[in-house]
Amino acid sequence: MAKTITILGIESSCDDTAAAVVQLIDETKVNVLSSKIFGQEELHKKFGGVVPEIAARAHTEKLDYVIEDALEDAKFNLNTIDAIAVTAGPGLIGGVMSGVMYAKGLSVGSKKPLIGINHLAGHALTPRLTNQIEFPYLMLLISGGHCQFLIVHGPTQFKRIGASIDDAPGEAFDKVARLISLPQPGGPSIEVSAKSGNSVRFDFPRPLIGRDGCNMSFSGLKTSVLRARDALIQEQGGLYSIDQSDISASFQEAISEILTKKTMVALEMYLAIKPNSPTISVAGGVASNSLIRDNLKKLAAKCGVTFIAPPINLCTDNAAMIAWAGIEHYRLGIRDDMSLGARPRWPLDESAPALIGYGKKGRKA
Ligand code: KG4
Ligand code: ZN
Repeated sequence: MAKTITILGIESSCDDTAAAVVQLIDETKVNVLSSKIFGQEELHKKFGGVVPEIAARAHTEKLDYVIEDALEDAKFNLNTIDAIAVTAGPGLIGGVMSGVMYAKGLSVGSKKPLIGINHLAGHALTPRLTNQIEFPYLMLLISGGHCQFLIVHGPTQFKRIGASIDDAPGEAFDKVARLISLPQPGGPSIEVSAKSGNSVRFDFPRPLIGRDGCNMSFSGLKTSVLRARDALIQEQGGLYSIDQSDISASFQEAISEILTKKTMVALEMYLAIKPNSPTISVAGGVASNSLIRDNLKKLAAKCGVTFIAPPINLCTDNAAMIAWAGIEHYRLGIRDDMSLGARPRWPLDESAPALIGYGKKGRKA
């Protein structure tokens, strides 16, 4: 096995066209040599959400440029890297196909191995990119299309111990932002608006909190926000900026409380199998929320568990996490060939039972 592994990662499963070069030296030192992202926010803005056809076309147009930029910045080229890792799902099928087809072309042209990566594995393995933590660790993966507690046993071994039975939290942030006329993506705009808001003005529900296990539910929360908004409009003839802030703060508080309380339950389950040197980590776009991160950090400290929250640019979609997952797969000898397909759905834990309603609507279901 080579002492140094350098991998080009490609990500195009939603609305970010990304490429990165990541290197592992002597099994210990990780360098993100470059990480480039072309975000498509502007293209989708006027539609109030990601339009799959527009996303796929934009990926096809930008992949070339973003990959070249990432290689150049890292001072590498296709002949000097060891392999090409590409997101092969789950995600918007047109975008995933664009990335997979492109990566196949690069692999054939350069004769470098091709490795198909599960986008969610990219998120879930990120704390090993940033902190080289040991398996097994507890991962709370919270993004625009996913919400699950995973015990990560290895680069391809994930045990799902809980999940959202309906919306993902990012989806709830995006829908609530739309309801109160804040811009997309909803997470960051709600977080900003919440800063000047009163988090106890609205008592939004915390579904499933009293139930056993660590499954979660967020769709009722969104319906309550809708009711609160309509009541305000009826009462005062419109929604003022203070109302937007108070709704944002109260909603963010509710989401954070659900996640923190269920993390307590998930921690108990995880500690039963890893009582010594336990670690919990969080990943996915929603993990960039400060309130959520702070509350999880406090909980971990209280329970004597190490808490790892990757930097925000590695929580939201990026290709460094795909390149890193590529390194983890490469070390295990995992390679794909030209039969690699694009998978719109691809659960990390294939043995976990389907949850009612879950995965039917999410962008990354
Ligand atoms: O992981 P990600 O970039 O893409 C998916 O794989 O889904 O996550 C995007 C989601 C969006 O729903 C966005 O609103 C949410 O992450 N998000 C946030 C924040 N930043 C992004 N949610 C809450 N607070 C944030 N600061
Ligand atoms: Zn993601």
